[in-house]
Amino acid sequence: MLLWNKLQSVLGVLPLQQLAYSPHHYPSPQGGRLTVDVEWADAYDKAEAFVSKLSLAEKVNLTSGIRDMGLCAGNTGDIPAHDFWGFCLQDGPLGVRPSDLVTGFGSGISAGATFNKELINARGHAIGYEFKYKGIDIALGPTVGPIGLKALGGRNFESFGADQYLQGVAGAETVKGMQDEGVMANAKHWIANEQEWDRRRISENLDDRTLHEVYAWPFADLIHAGVGSVMCSYNLINNSWGCENSYTLNKVLKDELGFQGFVMSDWDSTHSGVNAVTSGEDMDMPGSGFFGPNLTIAVLNETITMERLDDMATRIMAAYYKTNLDKSREERGPPNFSEHTLRDTDYLYPPIKSGPIVTVNKHVDVRRQFHYDVAYNTSVESVVLLKNNDGILPLSKANTQRITVLGGAARDGSHGSTCSHVGCRGSGEFGEVDGATQLGWGAGATYYPYFVSPYEGIMNRARKDWITVNGYFAPETDNEAFQIATSGSDVNIIFGLSSSGEKWDREHTNLWMNADETILAAAAQHPNNIVVVSSVGQINMEKWIDHDNITAAVFALPGGQDTGTAIADVLFGDTNPSGKLPFSIARDDKDYYDIVKAEDASNGHPQDDIIGQAGLYYDYRYFDQYKIEPRFEFGYGLSYSKFSYDDLEIKKVKQPSEYLPPPPRLLPATSSKSTLPPAYELVFPKGFSKVPKFIYPWIDSESQARKKGSYPFPDGYSTEQPEQASLAGGASGGNPALWEVAYKVSANVTNNSIDRPGKTVVQMYIGYPESEEYPSPPRQLRGFEKPYLNPHETARVELDILTRDLSVWDVKTASWVVQRGEYSVYIGSSSRDLSLYGIIRIE
Ligand code: BGC
Repeated sequence: MLLWNKLQSVLGVLPLQQLAYSPHHYPSPQGGRLTVDVEWADAYDKAEAFVSKLSLAEKVNLTSGIRDMGLCAGNTGDIPAHDFWGFCLQDGPLGVRPSDLVTGFGSGISAGATFNKELINARGHAIGYEFKYKGIDIALGPTVGPIGLKALGGRNFESFGADQYLQGVAGAETVKGMQDEGVMANAKHWIANEQEWDRRRISENLDDRTLHEVYAWPFADLIHAGVGSVMCSYNLINNSWGCENSYTLNKVLKDELGFQGFVMSDWDSTHSGVNAVTSGEDMDMPGSGFFGPNLTIAVLNETITMERLDDMATRIMAAYYKTNLDKSREERGPPNFSEHTLRDTDYLYPPIKSGPIVTVNKHVDVRRQFHYDVAYNTSVESVVLLKNNDGILPLSKANTQRITVLGGAARDGSHGSTCSHVGCRGSGEFGEVDGATQLGWGAGATYYPYFVSPYEGIMNRARKDWITVNGYFAPETDNEAFQIATSGSDVNIIFGLSSSGEKWDREHTNLWMNADETILAAAAQHPNNIVVVSSVGQINMEKWIDHDNITAAVFALPGGQDTGTAIADVLFGDTNPSGKLPFSIARDDKDYYDIVKAEDASNGHPQDDIIGQAGLYYDYRYFDQYKIEPRFEFGYGLSYSKFSYDDLEIKKVKQPSEYLPPPPRLLPATSSKSTLPPAYELVFPKGFSKVPKFIYPWIDSESQARKKGSYPFPDGYSTEQPEQASLAGGASGGNPALWEVAYKVSANVTNNSIDRPGKTVVQMYIGYPESEEYPSPPRQLRGFEKPYLNPHETARVELDILTRDLSVWDVKTASWVVQRGEYSVYIGSSSRDLSLYGIIRIE
């Protein structure tokens, strides 16, 4: 690139367009220096004591994956001298994948759609428990990146919805629940993993304000909640790989957000040794040649300091103590399942099919009634009622005797639910989808213990009331069978779906399996049709949503094992619907940001500038800013009750200062207590028989450790730890002033139904002062609560506004600023239905 620029200037041609650039930041901040976090301080004391006993090889072993040679998706080496077996790292965000006898929870997007913090926390507990008793140390979830910038993004369903605030709150509740159970959570993918197409080559280019206010925002919540580990992403950020980006890792994550745990690579996303380590990566997964022996060599020849290696090992062990893994491991022992097979036995070294045959699956049943309850509740509270003409729903025997269920998406497909984790539900490579979707696929999927399809759910429920149910699932509508099925019913319920997964963005927002045609054909014949959309993300409904004969519509997010029961319970009114859309649905697909399928740029990496151009304005922030009417807005969802709001009150607790106060002081950095061992101590022990492809910490010969020239560190490289954190930092999640309550808002919400109890989501949005310097979206979600109300009951709901909720990222001072001026506070039932309005004036 440099050479090319030089050539151009010599030849007098126009310089290439400047590619987005990520500044360097060194050194990698040493962990354990916070003065305001007792739990981490305690964990660091224990970690330092443990690490001080380790040899160089043992420290390297803690940081290096052993290349799939263990039972789990990721495994680190054992440290037999200290009776310490290597870590087991296992997917994923919605529970243990892929093992048997686990619960099939709904995915992150369905948890997000519940907007129910207690339930999300309980889901975290249940998931954490199952990981723990399968013998897993580090659970690879929750996912809070992608943020959901692109409607077609393949992994949006893993995270909680297209809003950084919702993602932060839901992610933090999940982490708290999981870690309270004694398993370490993992915040992934840091950062800007917004599309699957070219995910391992693309550069996601974004400006500093967007980076802080949108993409880093939810991670701050998870770090504040004490998450033990963070996974860096496959993509590049401003043309520097996610796992060797010294700006995002050293500066933003470890300095500004005060992250005290460790950074692991996404699988095979380590692209260098020295560069990754000095840029902030602490653990390489699942194990590449870049760590292991090469890390040993780099420390021996003093390219990487012993302080940095100690910091990597200590961060890993501090997270281990912080999340009580020492106690968990003592209680439940090593992993009792295999990532590679469901059979009882397997090779000891599965990837190379070698070693003795050993028992790998003990088939431990980790399910509990509580988990099933949480799975069902998440599923039922995530069903969103979109349309309900003349109260056609709920169904009852008074208004319905005969139902016809239509559409292939209503019944389980021929692949069954067990192959969902490898993508059987995709089109193309894994075969055509021909049945209901209960989740997306890839790392965010799992095997289910059972799956109730929508058709089964409806049949099970209908027969209790002697309502008859007929089904027609073929895509063809131009035949007699379709006519008979649809004309012989009081109501048709038509199912359509759309799915996606890891490596697979969606290609369009239309329903699959000819569902639009089925819907229109049914509507052409019958006056009463209910559409149920089952989808990982936004669907284009324009062809049918306004049709007079489409009397009701429901959106079901991927809801796990009880998907069908949950849908039926909402349709029949056993549960009053309370799900809210965790994204906006457009009238026109041009209002979504596209997946970038770009040509390579001059550096070989497709450039995704959309992510930066969209900036702060995505999803409802975009629709509001450009005054575009969405079909259904973020936060939207009907109930069978009518709720009303009144009596807004805003109380000042502590007016935030314009600029943050200085961050808490840091403890002085420490130097390593270990001296560099002689290289011969790191040579493979005599007679050691190597397993091919296994990553060891040892080297073949002393000569490998000899220095050969000097390493080309970039300008500004330094190993000098600063005395102070950045103004924005100094504590877990950033400067503690950001987390102070500035205002308390309260309002009444009443259930006006005469006979229906139900829950509703009270949503608070804040509009920042008009400003040329910091133009901001008209409104941003900054609080929500979900009370349960009996008929005629009123609840007083309280919402805290934190200083960070009023802050903008100021690029000049590289910190947060609370502008002076007038802030609008809106309370209501969606991002557009906001009946209460108040003002906060900050002078
Ligand atoms: C995914 C991660 C996952 C890892 C381990 C990667 O392909 O991006 O989310 O945790 O694999 O399975």
